[in-house]
Amino acid sequence: MVSAFSFILPLVAVASAKIFYAGVAESSGEFGVFSSSATPGTGLPGRFNVDYAFINKSAIDIFVDQNKINLFRVAFLLERMCPLSYGLGSKFNETHFGYYKDAIDYITVTKGAYAILDPHNYMRYNDPSQQPTTGSIIGNTSDTKAATTAQFGAFWGALSDRFKDNEKVIFGLMNEPHDMPTSLVLQNNQAAVTAIRAAGAKQLILAPGNGYTGGHSWLQNSQGDEPSGNYLYKISDPVNNTAIDIHEYLDTDFSGGHTVCNQSGPANLAGVTGWLKQHGLKAMITEFGGDNNTQCDTYIADLINYMATNDEYIGWTAWAAGPFWGTSSPCCTDSKHYGSLEPGSKAGDGSPGLYETVWQKVIQPLVPGMLQWNGISSVTGGTLTSKPGKKSGHPGGYGHR
Ligand SMILES: *[C@@H]1O[C@H](CO)[C@@H](O)[C@H](O)[C@H]1NC(C)=O
Ligand SMILES: *[C@@H]1O[C@H](CO)[C@@H](O)[C@H](O)[C@H]1NC(C)=O
Ligand SMILES: *[C@@H]1O[C@H](CO)[C@@H](O)[C@H](O)[C@H]1NC(C)=O
Ligand SMILES: *[C@@H]1O[C@H](CO)[C@@H](O)[C@H](O)[C@H]1NC(C)=O
Ligand SMILES: *[C@@H]1O[C@H](CO)[C@@H](O)[C@H](O)[C@H]1NC(C)=O
Ligand SMILES: *[C@@H]1O[C@H](CO)[C@@H](O)[C@H](O)[C@H]1NC(C)=O
Repeated sequence: MVSAFSFILPLVAVASAKIFYAGVAESSGEFGVFSSSATPGTGLPGRFNVDYAFINKSAIDIFVDQNKINLFRVAFLLERMCPLSYGLGSKFNETHFGYYKDAIDYITVTKGAYAILDPHNYMRYNDPSQQPTTGSIIGNTSDTKAATTAQFGAFWGALSDRFKDNEKVIFGLMNEPHDMPTSLVLQNNQAAVTAIRAAGAKQLILAPGNGYTGGHSWLQNSQGDEPSGNYLYKISDPVNNTAIDIHEYLDTDFSGGHTVCNQSGPANLAGVTGWLKQHGLKAMITEFGGDNNTQCDTYIADLINYMATNDEYIGWTAWAAGPFWGTSSPCCTDSKHYGSLEPGSKAGDGSPGLYETVWQKVIQPLVPGMLQWNGISSVTGGTLTSKPGKKSGHPGGYGHR
């Protein structure tokens, strides 16, 4: 039972708390484009709620109301937002944008949580048929079919303009750039940051590195790419509200594909954490995960605790929930059907899915009791409180009784 005053007098956090945003990735908006023959255009534009979807509102209700998380990372495809006939840029498919905005507004306006906009495109545009490898690299001037860095900037300028009055939105510039010059990752990120600020949007930006933005390889050559650490500190934001976006899986090859965890988050992140400290930067880990075995439990808990005890980390989203996973698993099962982090998820054999066997068992107990529930998304965070109840004067609420 909720006390009469809990909703108007949230407790103010103790100074040691460090995580401002915690939650889950919503993956399904990027679904429906895979082609075994890598045929360009497969699944485009796709049928909303048939081939792809963004969120299940009932699942968001469970995550916010019961689990008290305040952050969702919502994937979408650039080729659906900016159809190939328009090209990447400021002209959107308004129908598709409307579906996406409805999901973002539900999370942020209706539920009061924060939402990361996630173009799930690996810094590529024009052919998602075999992500992560198909499609022209944005800004590759040797590729006549490639979208330009300026077009990527124009896209972000237009998207941020549409959300600039929603302080609970966070701009995740790009999911997992890889196998490209790291200087071009920086150049594209910078074009986006510049365009977002030129549009007058001041919310938090998350900038990825190269090598699938892996934290463990931040200071190393990765897939032949120069280290992200050699470039990403150069990013310049006129309002100083940009953090680094990191992904970190705990299985043997850092891919998130396998059941066995043997990669220690704290050990493998020590390098990037030092780099963040050196450059006065903050980070979020927007993808991590592990299988539902007791051995992985420890690795997942160690990673979450590491973020909670290191000032450089301001938030996280686990991979992944989303309405369209069915019994398939987003990570860490060697392709076995163990379900997903979506509430109610079931494994292929009908037994509980990863929501029960990983989220509720391992992750939920480590969600901070105090998070940021008000104010602009920020690299320095906002006031930490327990989740507010219904606002006074809210229809059907109990304010001023
Ligand atoms: C949405 O989530 C609710 C609650 O878990 C579930 O009962 C419902 O079947 C889901 N709807 C869809 C379309 O997946
Ligand atoms: C825009 O999206 C709608 C809804 O998915 C779709 O019917 C339409 O064909 C799309 N338009 C373009 C140009 O892709
Ligand atoms: C850029 O495009 C050219 C021409 O298609 C291609 O040969 C090259 O591999 C591309 N660069 C990268 C980093 O993929
Ligand atoms: C951003 O940070 C730099 C370096 O610390 C500082 O010089 C500048 O005044 C800051 N700008 C704003 C708008 O806070
Ligand atoms: C994890 O397992 C992989 C594959 O067996 C191996 O290459 C790697 O050295 C192991 N890492 C650790 C930290 O044990
Ligand atoms: C993980 O979940 C699946 C589905 O419920 C189950 O079959 C499997 O035994 C679980 N793994 C472990 C190690 O408990």
